[in-house]
Amino acid sequence: MNRGLSKIVFPTAGLGTRFLPATKASPKEMLTIVDKPLIQYGVEEALASGMDKIIMVTGRGKRAIEDHFDISAQLEANLKAAGKDALYKEVSRVSRMAEVVYVRQKQALGLGHAVACATNWVGDEPFGVALADELIISKVPAMQQLRIIHEQTGCSVVGLMRVPKNLVSRYGIAAASEENGLLRLTDMVEKPQPEDAPSDLAIIGRYIFTPRLFDLLAETKPGKGGEIQLTDAVARLAKEEPVYGVLIEGNRHDAGNPLGFLMANAELGSKHPQFGEELTDFLRNLL
Ligand code: G1P
Repeated sequence: MNRGLSKIVFPTAGLGTRFLPATKASPKEMLTIVDKPLIQYGVEEALASGMDKIIMVTGRGKRAIEDHFDISAQLEANLKAAGKDALYKEVSRVSRMAEVVYVRQKQALGLGHAVACATNWVGDEPFGVALADELIISKVPAMQQLRIIHEQTGCSVVGLMRVPKNLVSRYGIAAASEENGLLRLTDMVEKPQPEDAPSDLAIIGRYIFTPRLFDLLAETKPGKGGEIQLTDAVARLAKEEPVYGVLIEGNRHDAGNPLGFLMANAELGSKHPQFGEELTDFLRNLL
């Protein structure tokens, strides 16, 4: 049993090509969902799941992420002087919410390579990985749902959702068998064609790993799309030690593309305490 899980890696070096031209000059992680950038939802989910040491793997053009989690003394002083107390509190809360370190992924060699860039910052302990463009709205934070199984087993855990067969080629797809009421993953394939998919269990960007993953990532050769795939290293890990799957409860939006982004805004906007009702009426009247 391991209760020491405190570190989480956010790969944020991606180019955001699915959201051009919006992401031409600003990071996709800074796209606004209602009133917060996408990455803040991920960081808040991590904190709510007891992971408060954040390792952001960034790249060129991602400075806005660093500025967002940094203290802006000027802005705080201005808000205070103007008596804007609620805004001052919110802005200073964001700057101090987590300990964040930034590591640069110097070449876009794939998700597996991005996670490997955090090797020395994580060290010899279990750690989380979260893909911030997958926004998961749930009662129990998604990373916490994984953490529960990690604490039961001490093993690696991967977040899953069932997807329609015609969409499997967008995801890493896992093969699983039941073991003592848990889903044990036996294999994983990155973005298979429907006829080659081992199941309809899609990997949705939430993971907890034992540090053994780093050794395997270091040996992982380019796979699908010529990239070093995280999925390939996890598939190898699953052959060496148990890796469990968790079917995540909640509504998931792929906010890294325009449709998913709009849906996330509609769902969270319509639940907003101040203007949720008004937005819901507006959306209803559109139909
Ligand atoms: C990545 C992973 C894939 C996973 C997906 C979830 O792919 O490689 O296994 O299913 O995230 O969003 P990407 O969407 O970055 O191409």
